[in-house]
Amino acid sequence: MAENFHRFLYGGDYNPDQWLEYPDILKEDIRMMKEAHINTVTLGVFAWSKLEPQDGVYDFDWMEEIIDRLYENGIYVNLATPSGARPHWLADKYPEVLQVDESRRRQIFGLRHNACFTSPAYRMKVYQINRKLAERFDRHPGVILWHVSNEYGGECHCPLCQQAFRDWLKEKYHTIDEINRRWNTAFWSHTYQSFDQIESPSSIGESSIHGLYLDWRRFMSYQITDFCRAEIRALRDGGALKKTTANFMYNYSLINYHELAQAVDIVSWDNYPQWHHQKEPVTAMKSAMQHDIMRSIKKEPFLLMESCPGPTNWSPVSKLKRPGILEAASLQAVAHGSDSVLYFQIRKGRGGFEKFHGAVIDHYGKSDDRVYQECCQVGEDLERLTQVNFSKVESQAAVIYDWENRWALEESCGPRNENMFYKEAVEKSYSAFRKLGLNVDVIDSMQELDCYKVVAAPLLYMFRPGFAEKVRRYVSGGGRFILTYWSGVVDENDLCVLGGTPGGLMDVMGLRSTEIDALYEGENNEMISAGDGRRYTCEHLCQLVDLKTAKPLYLYGGDFYAGTAAATENDFGSGKAYYICADAEQKFYDDLYAGIVAEAGIRKVFSGEIPEGIAVSVRTDAENEYIFIQNYNPQPTAFLPEMEDAELMLGELTGEMKPFSTAVLKRKKR
Ligand code: GLA
Ligand code: ZN
Repeated sequence: MAENFHRFLYGGDYNPDQWLEYPDILKEDIRMMKEAHINTVTLGVFAWSKLEPQDGVYDFDWMEEIIDRLYENGIYVNLATPSGARPHWLADKYPEVLQVDESRRRQIFGLRHNACFTSPAYRMKVYQINRKLAERFDRHPGVILWHVSNEYGGECHCPLCQQAFRDWLKEKYHTIDEINRRWNTAFWSHTYQSFDQIESPSSIGESSIHGLYLDWRRFMSYQITDFCRAEIRALRDGGALKKTTANFMYNYSLINYHELAQAVDIVSWDNYPQWHHQKEPVTAMKSAMQHDIMRSIKKEPFLLMESCPGPTNWSPVSKLKRPGILEAASLQAVAHGSDSVLYFQIRKGRGGFEKFHGAVIDHYGKSDDRVYQECCQVGEDLERLTQVNFSKVESQAAVIYDWENRWALEESCGPRNENMFYKEAVEKSYSAFRKLGLNVDVIDSMQELDCYKVVAAPLLYMFRPGFAEKVRRYVSGGGRFILTYWSGVVDENDLCVLGGTPGGLMDVMGLRSTEIDALYEGENNEMISAGDGRRYTCEHLCQLVDLKTAKPLYLYGGDFYAGTAAATENDFGSGKAYYICADAEQKFYDDLYAGIVAEAGIRKVFSGEIPEGIAVSVRTDAENEYIFIQNYNPQPTAFLPEMEDAELMLGELTGEMKPFSTAVLKRKKR
């Protein structure tokens, strides 16, 4: 792609297959795309029944004509494989492609994203069409990238998937005895005698064995990744040389994206924050973290594959984006490492489920439309920022947000079953670093730590194999490591650690976690600084600890454990390990992390403080730093950073930033 394209990709999903009977509209679309500086569209995501109207009968001519016409007009194509939704004839002829849900009920034809990923018939039909698409279009100079399927997800419990699950388990554990041991199936007398008895978790069957649940999640992740690899193999067999991507989703739990990402060349994702529900800086921070998750998977620039120019239509209330938000959200993606701003969709569909979903071109169809005008503005901005394309995001701080830990933590029973607030705990650490103006990587617990000066691991209930040893090396080598309550409790099969927690890190943390107190909604406790007496509230979970070498930084203010440690610090080797015992309010994290970051000698972009609601991110190439400053406050905000030798690439810095405005500065790398 890089060789084919040097600008930011700007555009989005385009569905001319819904408009083939409106030739004037297709012509007008191209005119309006050019006016909006659009240079890329994603084609064919849901076009299978137009591409293969009958089993084995292909019609690609209309597609070729559209690709040609776009190319003549300077618009490039991400070409999709159509497996996200299948034609009616396919489900009729091969009913095995229809998913079976967890209660063992087979679906009838309808909707999308609901095929069986194991079905040999589905895999065969996808193979055939992908290969043919590659043979016909990969060499087209207008095609720059393969968009494999759409938003992979879901799960299937059909007999084919059950068998594949058993085979996968056999390969992993070899014997049924080993499964019984690793899943602790003696509980409630659920011991298996043979692999054939194993069934995926179900509300009408087994839901008490957490090890089974975890391996089912891992298997589905594996199976979807395998399906994706098979799709790509079909493209390569058809001669495809161009790169591939698959579009990921916001905080999607069911697929471990670190695994799926290995199948594709480029990570891309779909971002649909619901603006103006919470305060804008909060929404912006949550969305920033998701961008950083996506970037951190490969530690490479990613693509924003979908976003919405206007309001979406699938949430309970579809609020309009206030003027300026589209530009801010689009540039936020770029600030965090995206080399594209792509929308769903270019032209608003006429009928069906998404007819009121925001789009670049409204049903009205003319340029004097507010949303369209804002899209034109984003297109202009991206052209001014062309030099930033391909630059990297380098982070000295990281927060761990681990998919497998999430599965384990959320499925387990106790100490709180309504909500463990895992994502929220990660967001607190993330946002404390971000408020200091730091770039932050959001990584998986299997990733390397040594490249960071400080790493936070909130609520890391499950320590995956090798994690404790890695942390030990990291801290003894000088790293700063922050762990919280309810961490290091179980192994990768959700079996509890024996002999004390956090498992394998008691000496590194200088303490042992003893009991954990779960608080009812509305209850809280206090954390009081052992130094200056500052007080913060905490809620949900309070871990009690037994100190060995750790020093208490904060003490609980209330309850029978008042006066015992609520946050600690421990010197270990040449580094330091911190432990946060309770779910503290945001301000606690902000203040604690400011101190840790200062002590760790982390270089910041600006020396001064960053006002609330202003976000700072930096991209870097061999020569330059590109500094993005965004005001997410709905009111003007005073901010004038000291920026010697910096050149303004976009926006203005007059001392007061307008609501939702962005300034981009460039300076020589230091
Ligand atoms: C997802 C899908 C798109 C579209 C949008 C609507 O991201 O990939 O096809 O349905 O949602 O928000
Ligand atoms: Zn299946």
